Amino acid sequence: MDLIKPLKIGKLKIDFPAVQAPMAGITHSPFRMLVANYYNPGLFFSEMLSAKSVLFEDFNQSIYLKCIDTSIERPIAYQIFASDKESAFLAAQRLNKEDYIDVVDFNLSCPAPEIAKKRKAGAFLLSDLNLSLSILKSVKKALIKPFTVKVRIGMKEDKGFIRELVAVVEEAEVDAITVHPRLIKQKLKGKSKWEYIAFIKDIAKMPVIGNGDVKSKEDFFKMIEETGCDGVMIGRAAVQKPWIFGQIKGQIFDINAGFLVELYARMLELYTSFFPPEKVLGRIKEFTWYFSKNLKFGHHFASKVQASKSVEEIHSFYFETIKNCF
Ligand SMILES: Cc1cc2nc3c(=O)[nH]c(=O)nc-3n(C[C@H](O)[C@H](O)[C@H](O)COP(=O)(O)O)c2cc1C
Repeated sequence: MDLIKPLKIGKLKIDFPAVQAPMAGITHSPFRMLVANYYNPGLFFSEMLSAKSVLFEDFNQSIYLKCIDTSIERPIAYQIFASDKESAFLAAQRLNKEDYIDVVDFNLSCPAPEIAKKRKAGAFLLSDLNLSLSILKSVKKALIKPFTVKVRIGMKEDKGFIRELVAVVEEAEVDAITVHPRLIKQKLKGKSKWEYIAFIKDIAKMPVIGNGDVKSKEDFFKMIEETGCDGVMIGRAAVQKPWIFGQIKGQIFDINAGFLVELYARMLELYTSFFPPEKVLGRIKEFTWYFSKNLKFGHHFASKVQASKSVEEIHSFYFETIKNCF
């Protein structure tokens, strides 16, 4: 049976239902270009964006908003978070104006204290479904583009709550829902509870994108088989292995030391030419945490990069260290 079926998000038809997850600090344009070097996912994602940044930053300048190549990083979803319907409406209206943005996604899942506690957005909204509904409805009102939301399953394992959540998302006429089936308090700990993806797929009328702990081509197909989901979102594994979407599509990559050195060199080039000097090192370090999992004793390489004071310093050792650690 062919498990790869097109994913429909409103009027957008995606032939390859593998979605690159939004990840703050990681899924900026140079990262997307690095992934595109190997094989595009069916849908790219931006980092999570505050409604304010969308309203007040320049789309041609902001490192969060701009794309290096809007013909390559496509189709793409931009994810926003907000805690009130007015700013959510204005941000969605602004995103709606950019031709190259294909989908607008609203975050109902982020548990980070900075977002959930301090800003009362992200996963906090799961504690007030009336507020969530009014925000989602106002985003919908602002949009002509397809509209998605990304959720966690809530405070505790409660199917009654999940039914209410799905009803809210459907009432707001959202075109697809991404389910990261961890509790809010789990953050990224424990296992992703795929049975809740299957549960939501059972009760929801809209397409369901499953997410959590997909680390390989085999996991991709297993999630579709076990849950019946319409799409699969991949986060951390796509940072460790930016070639993973090609593997899922059946391409064969010879993962040897030379391949990894070349990938890392390309990353350095893309990141260095995109980010201002005060930001570039931080972004390289974020990427390297995940990438170093491809190496034996990868933590040696990761620690060396973390301790580096400049990109030049990384240039002085990455080639030899990657070769020696493979
Ligand atoms: C460093 C990092 C940053 C993340 N930032 C976001 C974000 O901005 N928005 C969001 O919806 N999820 C965010 N997530 C969660 C991922 O999108 C995804 O739901 C989670 O990592 C589980 O998928 P995975 O097991 O494939 O990594 C982040 C995860 C990580 C590791």
